[in-house]
Amino acid sequence: MKIVILPDARAVSCAVADIIVQEVRRNPQAVLGLATGRTMEAIYAELCARHKGGIAELSNISSFNLDEYVGLSEEDPRSYHYYMRENLFSTIGIEANKGRLPKGAAHDPEQAAAEYDVALAASGGVDMQLLGIGENGHIGFNEPLSGLSTRTRVVALAKATLEQNAKMFGGDYNNVPKQAITMGIGTILEARSILLVATGSAKARAVAQSVEGALSASMPGSALQLHAKCIVVLDQGAASELG
Ligand code: F6R
Repeated sequence: MKIVILPDARAVSCAVADIIVQEVRRNPQAVLGLATGRTMEAIYAELCARHKGGIAELSNISSFNLDEYVGLSEEDPRSYHYYMRENLFSTIGIEANKGRLPKGAAHDPEQAAAEYDVALAASGGVDMQLLGIGENGHIGFNEPLSGLSTRTRVVALAKATLEQNAKMFGGDYNNVPKQAITMGIGTILEARSILLVATGSAKARAVAQSVEGALSASMPGSALQLHAKCIVVLDQGAASELG
């Protein structure tokens, strides 16, 4: 693992956007693994600015997002489909069928999850996987005690995650969908490179245990220690519990 510690969240977003742009310059048709959430918003804003400014041409990439809530339509403003259109896809002009997310609204979410792994394999696999981390150490929606070799599947969300994500659902964690489809930890580890990003001191414990702690299913982020090409980009707050 390579750890990069930067002064603040803005520096983190710029550095991560630069790494992604370098990857896409090297391979304009790169397959990116993408994430949602607050940490990613600033990164996507940086990528959109680089695309609009002609610094990067991002329209030829294809992508697979990590996760989607079960039961939300793709038009629902709280869905990750909507988030991706708003924050990245509509600006970079990626074709709809090339920016893929798990179909959380599918009649049979288990089947949709299995099909997602098939589509991922058919694409040749992820070149660079962008990851955030939950305060409880989840990656994607692989909550503590997820198996380290899990594949894309339907999962139940931990109470900590419902609380972390309640803001989008009127502030009440009872309104957050209780299930999601997520790439598994095994699926994530198959990416050719991984970029884990965390900002803010609320992530410090999960970061320290993932990077320096024991490899353990109770800290899903620790599975990244198994990956030969993983860069961790942190601000001072997220790095504050590193030894
Ligand atoms: C979202 C995802 C999650 C988030 C994590 C951090 O697609 O996979 O693992 O990356 O919950 O979320 P934020 O950035 O909102 O703190």
